[in-house]
Amino acid sequence: MIREALAYLTTRCAPWARHMGLLREQIAIAARHRRCAADWAPHLNACRAAILEAAAETGARRFIILGSGHGFDLPLEELAPQADEVLLVDAVHPRAMRKRCESLEKPELVSLIERDLSGLSSQWPLKISQRPIAGRPDWNPEVDSMTLVVSLNLVSQLALPFHTSMTEEEFEVFRRDVMDAHVDWLRALGCPVMLIGEDSRAWRDAESGETILDPVLSPHALGEPWRQWDWNTVPVGERVDGLSMQARVAVWRYCGVQ
Ligand SMILES: C[S@@+](CC[C@H](N)C(=O)[O-])C[C@H]1O[C@@H](n2cnc3c(N)ncnc32)[C@H](O)[C@@H]1O
Repeated sequence: MIREALAYLTTRCAPWARHMGLLREQIAIAARHRRCAADWAPHLNACRAAILEAAAETGARRFIILGSGHGFDLPLEELAPQADEVLLVDAVHPRAMRKRCESLEKPELVSLIERDLSGLSSQWPLKISQRPIAGRPDWNPEVDSMTLVVSLNLVSQLALPFHTSMTEEEFEVFRRDVMDAHVDWLRALGCPVMLIGEDSRAWRDAESGETILDPVLSPHALGEPWRQWDWNTVPVGERVDGLSMQARVAVWRYCGVQ
């Protein structure tokens, strides 16, 4: 608790990111990562391996990582030596990530960019009875054929700040629109793009044995994933309500030229 409170007070970030709860959520992810390290390791390793494989196949020299966050899933130390430039983009860059960048052999190649990748911060806070409308970020990175853009476990998070302001049914529709907007934006960037995200989540109630499937990306017409694996996101015992959750994570790759 003290560690989290200190992180909340000392992490530099834009007021909108703090107000939308993104700083709080990012600190919570670090705490969950500490508790669930063994359960998360195969997923984090699979993400890192997929990024390195795509980097080798595309021969990219510029890397734009969307949702870099703590970078538990990012092979930064392996990517940096083969890069002319690495842009890490997130609403919040934790102090540990800033230090990690500084400790690289060529820290000047890495830039930490603070951006709202949902395009929703301009609608925050909602006025009474206002419904948020999915949009695109008011930022388009400069890309070329040597650029690889990676959306890294970000897409399912973009709608989250609005979860409590609507019913479950409304949220499901809104989240779908937000994820569609993100995928459309990625595909229109004009360079190789890799999307890593949760295809679906299976929630299980330990007491009743009942399993509920949250489809997340699976209803979106994304085509055959390039890679997929399971992630024991919420292991048994992690939550007091007895729920556990296993996500199916998938990776899609697009040439990005449409
Ligand atoms: C589940 S984490 C991704 C995992 C991350 N790569 C890591 O290892 O910490 C989602 C990331 O997306 C970022 N994020 C969520 N909403 C965002 C937004 N609207 N704009 C930019 N980044 C956002 C969060 O700050 C967080 O770092």
